[in-house]
Amino acid sequence: MSDIELFWPNKELSLRASGALDYLWVQPTDGRLLDSLTVERTNTGPLDARTNVLAIGDGADVLEALTKQSSFFEGGIRLVYIDPPFNTNADLRHYNDAISRAMWLSMMRDRLLALRPLLAENASVWVHLDDAEVHRARAVMDEVFGVNAFVASVVWQKKTSRDSRAAFSTNHDTILVYAPIGPKKWKVSRNLLEKDTAYLTNKDDDPRGPWADAPFTAPGYRRGQQYDIVTPSGRVLRPPRGRSWYATEPTYRSLVADERIWFPKEGDGSPRIKLFKHQLRGLVPFTVWEASDTGTNDDAKRHLMAMFPDREVFDTPKPELLLERIIHIATNPSDLVVDLFGGSGTTAAVAHKMRRRWLIAERNFQTVRDFLLPRLQHVVEGTDPGGITEMLSWAGGGGFEAIQVSPRFGKGYSPNAFGAIRRSLKKTVCRKATGAA
Ligand SMILES: C[S@@+](CC[C@H](N)C(=O)[O-])C[C@H]1O[C@@H](n2cnc3c(N)ncnc32)[C@H](O)[C@@H]1O
Repeated sequence: MSDIELFWPNKELSLRASGALDYLWVQPTDGRLLDSLTVERTNTGPLDARTNVLAIGDGADVLEALTKQSSFFEGGIRLVYIDPPFNTNADLRHYNDAISRAMWLSMMRDRLLALRPLLAENASVWVHLDDAEVHRARAVMDEVFGVNAFVASVVWQKKTSRDSRAAFSTNHDTILVYAPIGPKKWKVSRNLLEKDTAYLTNKDDDPRGPWADAPFTAPGYRRGQQYDIVTPSGRVLRPPRGRSWYATEPTYRSLVADERIWFPKEGDGSPRIKLFKHQLRGLVPFTVWEASDTGTNDDAKRHLMAMFPDREVFDTPKPELLLERIIHIATNPSDLVVDLFGGSGTTAAVAHKMRRRWLIAERNFQTVRDFLLPRLQHVVEGTDPGGITEMLSWAGGGGFEAIQVSPRFGKGYSPNAFGAIRRSLKKTVCRKATGAA
C-alpha cells in the first residue's frame, strides 16, 4: 500500500446512494446498512455466472445485491471499465457532473473498494477520467489497489477539432489502468493488439503467401551465433559489431533450405528472416491512443443519433472502437466485464458483440429507458448496424436480464416504472446467455 495518503473531509465515512440521484454520508457501522436492499427482476430463474445483467441502481448497491443473492460473480470479474461523471462542473442534460470533491472521492473509493474482493486474479480496472479529478483518482487507486498495481495511464484522443477560444484545446481523456497482481504478472494474460497485415508482400512469389521481414540479427555477442554468411552475390558477411546472427549456423542453414531467408538489394544486402502472417507477434499497446484507431466522442454521438434520431443525444458517450480495444486487451470470450456507470451502454453493447459476459449499472432511470435498454435490445436483435457491428460481423443473439435495486436511503425506485421495462424486455429475444451471446 501507499505510504502517502490523500485526505478529504468525511473520508472516514461511507458514501451511500440516497434516492435516485443523491448521496448520503453514513458511518460504516450504521445499523441501517444491515437492512436488505429491495431488488426487482425481470426473470425468475437463478442469477448465476451465465447471466448478463442490466441493473438500474447505484453501482455499490448493485454489487451488494448481486453478491448477497447469487453466484453471479463466480469466477471473478475480469475487467472493470468505469467512466464516472468527471466532476467538471459542466451543466449536462443527462446526469449531475458537479458534486463536492469530497463526495466524488468517497464515491470512487467506496465503489472501487466494493469491486476489489470480486475481481479475478488476473483482473484489471480501467478508470476513464479527464484532468478535473484524474490526479486525485490516481492517489485513491493507489490506496485501494496499492502503488504496485499501477499498469499505465492511457491518453485517449477524444476529439480532432480545435477549440480556438480556450487557453489549450484539450483533446484527450486519461484512462488509469490498474491490475491488482501487478503489471508483470498481468502482462502474461493480457492480449496483444493485432498487427495490421495489409503491408505484407510476396517479393519472391512464396507459395505460403505474403510475408514481412526482419533483420537476421540479435542484440549482444553470442559465440555460437558468430559465423560467415555468404550472400547470393558472393559477399561474405559477419554480424554487425556488438550483435550476433539471429540463430546458430545449423538453424540458419535449415532456414535457407526452407526459403525463409531473404537477401534484399537483389541478393547483395544483409540477410533478413521472412515472417508469415501466423508467425507475427501482436503489438504491445502504446499508452497514446489516437482517434483514427479508437474513435472520438463525436463518432459515438453519431452512432447514437442514428439509433435514436428523435432523441436529444446522450451527453458523453464513448465510441465502441475504444471499448473494443480495452475489452480485447483485458479479456477473452466469456470473461465477465463490469461497468458501474452505464450511461448509454457502450460497455455492455461492445462486451455483448465480443461475446463477453457483462454487468452494467446505471442509476438514472430515464437514461436506462431512453438509451441503455433500447440500445441493448437492438444489439440482441441484430438491429444495431453501427459501432463495431460490421467489424465483428455481429448479427444479433444472446440476451440479458434487467434488475432494479432501490437505494436504502431516501425514496426508492418505482416498481411500476420497472414493470414497463419488464414488458418491453418480454418483446425482445431475451434468454439466459451462455458465454454472453
Ligand atoms: C460519463 S457517463 C457514462 C457514459 C458511458 N460510458 C457511455 O459510453 O455512454 C456516467 C454515467 O454514470 C451514471 N452514474 C452516476 N453516478 C452513478 C452511480 N452512483 N451509480 C450508477 N450510475 C451512476 C450517470 O447517470 C451517467 O449516465
